[in-house]
Amino acid sequence: MASKTVLVRFHEKIGYLVFGSPGIIRKKGVGVQTGVGAIRLFGTKSQLHHQCGYLGATRERNAGISHGTQQNRLSPLQPTPLGHTAAPSETIRTYATMNTHQPGPMPEYQVDPYRLLEDDLKEVYSYIKTALRRNTYQEDLYEIATYYFDGNGKALRPMVAILMARAMNYHMYKENRSLLNAQREVAMISEMIHTASLVHDDVIDQSDFRRGKPSVNVMWNHKKVTMAGDFILAIASMMIARIKNNDVTLVLSQVVTDLVQGEFMQLGSKETENERFAHYLTKTYRKTASLMANSMKSVAILAGADEQLAELAFQYGRNLGLGFQLVDDLLDFVSNSAMMGKPTAADLKLGLATAPVLFACEKYPELNPMIMRRFQEPGDVEKAFELVHKSKGLEQTQFLAKQHCQEAMRIASMLKESPFQKGLGVTADYVLNRMK
Ligand code: FPP
Ligand code: MG
Repeated sequence: MASKTVLVRFHEKIGYLVFGSPGIIRKKGVGVQTGVGAIRLFGTKSQLHHQCGYLGATRERNAGISHGTQQNRLSPLQPTPLGHTAAPSETIRTYATMNTHQPGPMPEYQVDPYRLLEDDLKEVYSYIKTALRRNTYQEDLYEIATYYFDGNGKALRPMVAILMARAMNYHMYKENRSLLNAQREVAMISEMIHTASLVHDDVIDQSDFRRGKPSVNVMWNHKKVTMAGDFILAIASMMIARIKNNDVTLVLSQVVTDLVQGEFMQLGSKETENERFAHYLTKTYRKTASLMANSMKSVAILAGADEQLAELAFQYGRNLGLGFQLVDDLLDFVSNSAMMGKPTAADLKLGLATAPVLFACEKYPELNPMIMRRFQEPGDVEKAFELVHKSKGLEQTQFLAKQHCQEAMRIASMLKESPFQKGLGVTADYVLNRMK
């Protein structure tokens, strides 16, 4: 397996910026290339050890690299050790959109998780639509509820749930159809909870478009849309009940609690910088990472994982989710609406101070009163946007995202080697380097 050279052909739907999972060891060269939306490490294992504090994974060929342990994780307001000078916004935008394939030999082997799981994933959306259809004869309720299940999303949540399920089953020498079917249900439930929350979120945020089309709140009235979100959640709850596993029911119910509390936290702000960053991270865990963490934990529980192994799955999802949201918050400043399929530079307009702004405060304290008044005064949004680009806030956000994605890779490397386990590492790399 290790000698095979396979080209990454990541899913066509995904704007995958770079190849270069630190979990994949290249033969020559050491370097760090950074740019917003593009950061990669490459080098031999020993060189990386020297350079990055390689922690030593269990297997030579699948070694993970991490400096994401609790002790050496970057403190949120600490300046990035990458030592960049702040790039002007044009440069940052160029970085974010350019192809940064590295010269030099291809890595030894790679895995494309979407291809690997093609069969598993192909029916996720039709199953979800069937489940919704079976439970209503009301045409418009069905139409609104299925609006986002059009197969145009990244399907990251179901993909990673099935990936973890298969990696975990392999790790535990478990292979049976009914187990995998229950785990596939978790993958669908995870996508349904996510979509129900987006449907509600679009009403709350009064969004214009999502996934390259008018958002659901633009198409139908708010009362109907809100109820359609509830309907998706209700059907997801029935599916949870049918799994008939109390631990899984508890774990997945926690996700909904977290989502609501995360969204609620977003409505408030904190006075001091430290409080604000802690508030932001907790909000981010609840709004984004909890769903991934608890879905990973659920498929592990179904596989019969003990507490320690279930925690490993949870931590993989938690780190992946935190990395994902940090990159999302970064892309809001550096990407464009066409690429993202949703409006960008949106967070400031919604009054939200995400990581790039919170980091930028360090250099530009004049951001503090703007944060407190939620960028409501004329010119606040433009000024804050400019200051973020002048600061190192974008690089620092990316650095923090990288810490979490590398931690996810390190955790994945602790599972028994399999294409699915490798896929978990590649997914963390994709999350870090995605463009949309
Ligand atoms: C998108 O955030 C929204 C979420 C990740 C969660 C929203 C949660 C709720 C509305 C609570 C209710 C939950 C359920 C399950 C009904 P965003 O606005 O930052 O991202 P966007 O740019 O994609 O809109
Ligand atoms: Mg929104």
